[in-house]
Amino acid sequence: MSNNMKTILTGIKCSGVPHVGNYLGSFQPAIEQANTGDAKSFFFLADFHALNQIKDPTELQRSVREIACAWLACGLDPKKTVFYKQSDVPEIFELTSILGNVTSKGLMNRAHSYKACVQKNVEAGLDPDDDVNIGLFTYPVLMAADILIMKTNFVPVGQDQKQHIEMATDIAKSFNAIYGNVLTIPKEIIRTDVAVIPGLDGRKMSKSYNNTIPLFCDSTELLKHIKRIPTDSSAPDAEKPADHLIFRLYKHFTNKDPDRKIGWGDAKQQLFVAMDTVIKPMRDKYNYLINNYSEVEKILTQGAIEARKMAKETITAVRKAIGA
Ligand code: ADP
Ligand code: TRP
Repeated sequence: MSNNMKTILTGIKCSGVPHVGNYLGSFQPAIEQANTGDAKSFFFLADFHALNQIKDPTELQRSVREIACAWLACGLDPKKTVFYKQSDVPEIFELTSILGNVTSKGLMNRAHSYKACVQKNVEAGLDPDDDVNIGLFTYPVLMAADILIMKTNFVPVGQDQKQHIEMATDIAKSFNAIYGNVLTIPKEIIRTDVAVIPGLDGRKMSKSYNNTIPLFCDSTELLKHIKRIPTDSSAPDAEKPADHLIFRLYKHFTNKDPDRKIGWGDAKQQLFVAMDTVIKPMRDKYNYLINNYSEVEKILTQGAIEARKMAKETITAVRKAIGA
C-alpha cells in the first residue's frame, strides 16, 4: 500500500435484523465508496459491541450471520475490501485497554447512548446507573480502537454515529499529545441525503424504536410494511409533499423523482415496485449465503488475516510508544 493511499473503515453492531435505514445510511454508501474509489477499505462485524445488550450466544451468532450476509448481498466485494469479524482481531482489545488510560471519564459521561439510558432511569425513578454496564459506558473507547487500529482516515456512517467518531478523534489526539504522532486522526463521512432515514412512525428508523422496514423480508412482507406507512386524507390528485417517507424512499431506490399527484394507495404500490426491484437480487443472494454460510466464513477468515497484518503494525508502534 502506498503511503498516501487513504483508508476507509466502517462497522455495524451485530444486534437485530438489518433494515432499510442501515442499507441506505451505511451499507450502500460505504460499499459504493469501496468499489469505486481508490481508498483501502475495511468493513467489519462489530460483534463485541453487541455484548452490552445481547447475552444469548445463539442470538449473537444469528445476528453476526445476518449482518455478514447482508454486507455481501449488498455488494461488498471481498477482493476490494478487507471484511472481518471484530472478535477475530485481538489487537483491537489490547488497544482498547491502552486507550482507556488517555480517555477522560468526563468524555464518556457525555456519550449520547449512555446519557439516554441514565435519563430513562431517572425518569422511571430508578438509580441513574440501573442496568448500565461498563461495556455500554466505554462503548466509544472500543469503537475508537476499531477505528485507530486500522490507521483509518475516513469513517462512512449515518448521523447517529457522528459523536462516536468525534470521540475517536479526541482519543487519538490525547494519545498523540502524550506519546507523539503515532495514531492516524480519523474523520467521519456522513452523506447528508441519507444521514437520517425515517422509520414507519416518522422517528429515525432504528431497531430500538421497532419502526423498521427489514431489508430482506420477502415481497409480501415488504408490501405489508409499506402499507403501514402513515398517510393523510389528501385527495388522490393533490400534489403530495416531496419529503414524505414514501417519496423519499422512492427517490433513494430509483434516483428518480416520483409522480406525486397520485392517490396514496398508488404511491405505495409505486414504492413497492421500486424497492422490490432493487432488493430482490440482493435478497436472493442473501438467502443463498445464509444457506451456504461456510462460504462467508472462508471470506471472514481470510479477512481477519489481512486485518491483523495492519492491526499488528499499529499495536507494535503503540507498544513501543508507551514503553511496553
Ligand atoms: P440502529 O439504529 O437500528 O440500532 P445501528 O446503530 O446498528 O442501527 O446502525 C448501523 C449503521 O447504520 C450506522 O452507520 C448507522 O449510522 C446507520 N443507520 C442506522 N439507522 C439509520 C437511519 N435511520 N438512517 C441512516 N443511517 C442509519
Ligand atoms: N457503533 C456502530 C453501530 O452501532 C458500530 C461500530 C462499531 C462502528 N465500531 C465502529 C462503526 C467503527 C464505524 C466505525 O452500528
